[in-house]
Amino acid sequence: MNSVLKRTAIVTGGGTGIGRAVAEELITAGFSVVITGRRRGVLTTTAEEIGAAVLDFDVTKPAQIEAALAELPATVHVLVNNAGGNTDIGAEAVTTLAGLRDSWLANFESNVIGAVLLTNAVADRIAASGRVINISSIAARKGVDGYGAAKAAIETWTIQLARELGPRGITVNAIAPGLIEDTDFFGGALSEEHRTAIIEHTATKRAGFPKDVAAVAGFLAGERSGHVTGQVIPVDGGAE
Ligand SMILES: NC(=O)c1ccc[n+]([C@@H]2O[C@H](COP(=O)([O-])OP(=O)(O)OC[C@H]3O[C@@H](n4cnc5c(N)ncnc54)[C@H](OP(=O)(O)O)[C@@H]3O)[C@@H](O)[C@H]2O)c1
Repeated sequence: MNSVLKRTAIVTGGGTGIGRAVAEELITAGFSVVITGRRRGVLTTTAEEIGAAVLDFDVTKPAQIEAALAELPATVHVLVNNAGGNTDIGAEAVTTLAGLRDSWLANFESNVIGAVLLTNAVADRIAASGRVINISSIAARKGVDGYGAAKAAIETWTIQLARELGPRGITVNAIAPGLIEDTDFFGGALSEEHRTAIIEHTATKRAGFPKDVAAVAGFLAGERSGHVTGQVIPVDGGAE
């Protein structure tokens, strides 16, 4: 297919982990994919390996998004709001109200604000029958402090956005992964004991991998998922 006719996708946080696997899945499906993140070196290495384009900006910063708009695709067929993570991991224990405020705000900024800002910035560019895919977490239903609350916010916003964009033929869904290994999410901070306990609570008795999430993203990005919208799809091995 001529590259100018290719469908385009933006995958935030596409340099590592789940985002990288989703980008690979979309490239295999024929999309021209832009991966974004803050670390240009990480993005460039991944882009060379999987055949993506790169744009480095902080998705939580309005001015950086505005500056990136000129280089983002003029028509967006798929937007994957994947950038985020639990900003409490590796941070100092919270001992003050001010620290608690900072902890919750950091999680909301990382997991909610970035997705909301970028989606609004490119909303007019999303093609008819386009797709928005948000990455939530099992944490939205497990009471994981500010991180879990932020992911719960992403899920209710997913429903709102599905209603807003639905008349244009655009679907909006969220994927809620359980434990996914081979990502930078835990930064080495997941103990073997905690890992074993999480896996014990799954039906499959295994951790997930980025390709497990990418497979569902690939379905949601495809032409046959057009009547699936406003949904949260768990990819968690049936975790209790
Ligand atoms: N791994 C799990 O067990 C798990 C489970 C449930 C949900 N999730 C969710 O899955 C998503 C991907 O996480 P992951 O596990 O693949 O971890 P990861 O490897 O740490 O990926 C997160 C990516 O987001 C990017 N990012 C973070 N903040 C950003 C910002 N402000 N602006 C631009 N890019 C930003 C990071 O790149 P830079 O640092 O270079 O910006 C990184 O590439 C996250 O939303 C996470 O909450 C993960």
